[in-house]
Amino acid sequence: MEFPIHELEDFYPGIKQARLSEEFDRYYHLETLKGYHSLELAEQNFLDFLKKGTPLAYITNQAYFYNAWFYVDENVLIPRFESEGLVELVIKNLKGNKVCEVGSGSGCLGLSILKETQKPLELTFVDLSEKALEVTKFNYQTHKYSFHPDHKVNFILGDRLEKVSGEFDLIFSNPPYVKRSQIIHDITKKYEPDMALFLDDETYEQWYRDFFEAARKLAPILLLEGHEYNLQDLAELARLMDFQKVEVTQDLNRRDRYLYLGS
Ligand SMILES: C[S@@+](CC[C@H](N)C(=O)[O-])C[C@H]1O[C@@H](n2cnc3c(N)ncnc32)[C@H](O)[C@@H]1O
Repeated sequence: MEFPIHELEDFYPGIKQARLSEEFDRYYHLETLKGYHSLELAEQNFLDFLKKGTPLAYITNQAYFYNAWFYVDENVLIPRFESEGLVELVIKNLKGNKVCEVGSGSGCLGLSILKETQKPLELTFVDLSEKALEVTKFNYQTHKYSFHPDHKVNFILGDRLEKVSGEFDLIFSNPPYVKRSQIIHDITKKYEPDMALFLDDETYEQWYRDFFEAARKLAPILLLEGHEYNLQDLAELARLMDFQKVEVTQDLNRRDRYLYLGS
């Protein structure tokens, strides 16, 4: 199938025929599994999605992250390349076995850590969205045989650490970090879950203050992904809260992206 690239470029800048063909094959394969066999209909539906600017990962229900494919749908954020840096930071800084992820979404971060480390970790996944947590569980079921056989997991529905108890060696999170007043890509805003992206400007600082306070009662290290324009302010907040080690590091595009808090 030949795709009308010129009509799609606004939504998918720089996209190539080969990539779209590959994504279509993935989509058609899934449609076939669901029992729809008409190639013509699948092509038409795929094109209709493209013309509306639907993110490819939501059309195919699959996204690639850190060496593996994950199921995604409109209830979860599409995994971002920058978050692979958070996975690496967690692996580098993790000394024990007990880990908690706040805001697990697709589960791509925590599940990649379980897979990459091949250690008997106990990982607690938390999300405020019931539907997102279902996706975390679904992806866990798909990937669990590639983890250390003695790993353990817990799934908690709740706001940040409110429902979490016990002690952890490390807590990490890629939380919602865009202020509602900040400008983001229209397509992201239209298709990805509001709850995964935004916090209100007026309560932004308090949201993080409460999160930092709760985290330091449970773990000596909190690692976060954050917005390049907001991360230095959050680092300052943590210094005012007397965290012993506060460090902002950059992603591969040299943008402030990760925050290490040690207490
Ligand atoms: C930026 S997404 C990250 C998803 C996934 N970890 C990733 O990196 O692709 C943030 C996630 O946090 C969840 N979330 C939002 N507010 C939350 C809260 N107060 N407590 C726990 N989870 C929350 C959202 O539902 C969403 O799944």
